[in-house]
Amino acid sequence: MTSRHGRLRAVIVGCGGIGKTHARSLDRSEAVERAGLCDVDRQVAEALAHAHGQEAVYTDMARMLAELRPDIVTLGVPTSAHAALTVQAAQAGVKGILCEKPMAKNLAEARRMIDACRESGTHLIVNHQRRTTLPLRRMRELIVDGAIGDVTLIRASCPGDILTDGTHAIDSMRYLAGDAPVDWVFGNVYRTPVDPAKPIGKGCVDVGGWRYRHGCPIENGGFALWQFATGVRAELLCGELRIPGRGYQDYTVFGDAGELWRPGDARDPNLLLRTDATGGWKPVQGCAPEDTADTFAANYDRLARDIQRGVSEHPLAAENGLRALEIIMAIYESARLRSRVSLPLDQDELPTDIMARDGTF
Ligand SMILES: NC(=O)c1ccc[n+]([C@@H]2O[C@H](COP(=O)([O-])OP(=O)(O)OC[C@H]3O[C@@H](n4cnc5c(N)ncnc54)[C@H](O)[C@@H]3O)[C@@H](O)[C@H]2O)c1
Repeated sequence: MTSRHGRLRAVIVGCGGIGKTHARSLDRSEAVERAGLCDVDRQVAEALAHAHGQEAVYTDMARMLAELRPDIVTLGVPTSAHAALTVQAAQAGVKGILCEKPMAKNLAEARRMIDACRESGTHLIVNHQRRTTLPLRRMRELIVDGAIGDVTLIRASCPGDILTDGTHAIDSMRYLAGDAPVDWVFGNVYRTPVDPAKPIGKGCVDVGGWRYRHGCPIENGGFALWQFATGVRAELLCGELRIPGRGYQDYTVFGDAGELWRPGDARDPNLLLRTDATGGWKPVQGCAPEDTADTFAANYDRLARDIQRGVSEHPLAAENGLRALEIIMAIYESARLRSRVSLPLDQDELPTDIMARDGTF
């Protein structure tokens, strides 16, 4: 049901950290407007409603969907809740779902989400927003134009765990590699018991002395190397294994004639180039960091366009979310099996769940 202004109507489910950014971005979207908020914690939803003007507040998504009949549902809920709510929203007949990253906690759930959305004709996107930002798009253009010669290696470093934070880096590296298929993945992760004398970490909870985030067991540090079918390699350094002093989501692309460096989200300039011709690192013009709410707003507009034209052209399409998740699962499976693993990955469960059960993680 479109609004009086001809815009599609979106509701936000999960009004915590990222829900707030979605609320701001919907204020800036040209094609989509906010129609309601839902959080199991009513106070959290009411606080967000208060900050953005009064609107319908719910604690139960099913009731909100039945009463408001929105076009789009944004899921800013913990990762372990993505699949069930996506399937529920698709079956309720919404036209579009923006699900936060990572797509789900395991591959079986992610496939269920895709199947449910295919059946209901729902456009499903997964919010790895960086591939739609100008610095990343410029980086890819420069690679395609041959600015650094043949690419050999893409390296990403970021704080946090692979499932929550590394997922962005993995999606960005896939994008920079032209979304080529991946042949194999080799990785390892480690975790230590929670130290009550130290901060547990952003968004983490202590479950029996071990750190969990968004309903999943997580590592202190993780490392991975994989190979795209094009022969390009990718390297990920996460959490305690990140490159010290580097920014959040720091990416370097190494070519045989130069390098491109995107030194983290907040760094300005946001993209630098080094070749024989530039001498040292030189900023690439027109690549200032983007305001995340603006990036999200543009992606809501793209989603509205897809829905209105009945096409599936969104850069955040669920298939990309699934491919990124498969790499994450392959890293954890490689750690579990102590071996390099080939893709497509034959593992429906979250391997760290299996290891946590076995007492090996
Ligand atoms: N794209 C990005 O840049 C980005 C940034 C941060 C977080 N995220 C993702 O967003 C998700 C949420 O992260 P966060 O940091 O906002 O978490 P958060 O804990 O701050 O907020 C989650 C909210 O969801 C609510 N909730 C839980 N289950 C619910 C349900 N069934 N129905 C309604 N509300 C429910 C919680 O009460 C909480 O308020 C995660 O999957 C995370 O990976 C994405």
